[in-house]
Amino acid sequence: MKSPQMVSGGLPVLGHLIDFVTKQDQLLQKGAKEYGAIFGLNLMGQKVAVLTGPEAKNAFFTETDRTLNMEEAYEFLAAIFGKVAFLADHQTYQNHRPILHALFSRSQMAVYLDVIVEVVSRWLDNLGEEGEMEIAGEMIELVQEVAGRCFLGDEIYENLGNRFWLAYNDLSKALDPVLPPTWPLPKFIRRDKAKAYLSNVLHPLVWERRANPKDDPFQLLVEAKMKDGSLPSEETIVQLLMALLFAGHETTAGQAAWTIIQLVQNPDYLKIVRAEIDELITAADAIDHNTLRDLKYVSMAVDETSRMYPSAETIMRTVEEDLVIGEITVPAGWMVQTATAVDHFREDLFDNPQEYDPLRFSPERKEDRKEKHAILSFGGGLHKCAGMNFANMEMAIIAALLFERYELEIISGELKVQRGLGSSRPSKTMLRYRIRET
Ligand code: HEM
Repeated sequence: MKSPQMVSGGLPVLGHLIDFVTKQDQLLQKGAKEYGAIFGLNLMGQKVAVLTGPEAKNAFFTETDRTLNMEEAYEFLAAIFGKVAFLADHQTYQNHRPILHALFSRSQMAVYLDVIVEVVSRWLDNLGEEGEMEIAGEMIELVQEVAGRCFLGDEIYENLGNRFWLAYNDLSKALDPVLPPTWPLPKFIRRDKAKAYLSNVLHPLVWERRANPKDDPFQLLVEAKMKDGSLPSEETIVQLLMALLFAGHETTAGQAAWTIIQLVQNPDYLKIVRAEIDELITAADAIDHNTLRDLKYVSMAVDETSRMYPSAETIMRTVEEDLVIGEITVPAGWMVQTATAVDHFREDLFDNPQEYDPLRFSPERKEDRKEKHAILSFGGGLHKCAGMNFANMEMAIIAALLFERYELEIISGELKVQRGLGSSRPSKTMLRYRIRET
């Protein structure tokens, strides 16, 4: 039995950390070229096995919550939101799961659809006849409003004010999977102040709702029962809400921005999308459940962007007991991670993987069905993204309504993936838009 081989080029002390943060895709592709499906990285002393290919990916998802632990890998998130849902131990997680199910039930999704269409239409109305916008930043604001209105309801969302979202942004800026979250760094001090402020704002809202129920999405969260039949504590509700707003924010904004950028960059496919939109969206901004289901080319564009530019490029676990995959043993104490930079570009799964080709998801080709977990953008197994359908619906609505109304062109220079310590997104990208001639 042998441990994973280390990718070449690690530095003393830092190991592969700098490449991991700045050009993770190239580092992972180099590892796969040097050693195949499983290889190792050194992140400042922490050894990480990168698991790619069918056997290793399966081990990653089936061993999660068994020999692989998710809680420790997400300690940096728990420092922000508390030990709630997927950030908690397995038993607490199982107890919280029905709340996630209630929030994303079929009937709730229908409510969210209408809210999303309304928010996106209002955003478009405010854009006017023509102008310029920086699409990555624009999506951050739009997605924030969508989530706020969907999970809190209009009344609470409108009363929160700018200070709430500024504090919320201080949480985002403190995302750091590398440095210990208890270090007294300015960003962690700001995080703790922001947490206290947000908690002071949200706790009274929960008391108030428990005393005086109303008919809106926030009530659903306040009333949802846990697996053991009890209601969650106020603290749990506040933590869950913050974690939810957060889990779906930069991730969805990044992929929504890339979806738009890639459609502008690919006019031939955009023509197909426009024909579909013009046929199906007959009245202004009218997207209902049936229209959304039929917007197949839009949906394939969303999927292709998820493959090529996933916001969550890797997910991680810690290894609690030696993990044996074929000839290789990943020792306890290591971490393991997935790698979209490798698996989403495998030539045995995807035809010309470097090419933008949404039709690879069509019923005739189904390239994403050739292997379990072929697409990793939303994770897999028990912890597969609870908000996946919500995010896909939101991205499809944004793209459909935007391209229904406007002609767009990119006026920035070179576009790149911007990787920070949180999720990936496009670098600042200016678009010029002009209302379409009818
Ligand atoms: C494009 C947008 C999104 C992407 C790329 C994304 C990605 C992911 C990934 C990769 C995971 C698995 C994490 C792991 O196994 O370590 C995950 C889990 C999760 N996501 Fe998302 N997500 C997105 C949108 C959302 C939205 C909109 C919400 C909610 C509003 C959300 C809520 C969650 C939750 C609650 C989990 C944990 C599920 C569990 O452990 O059972 N996500 N997401």
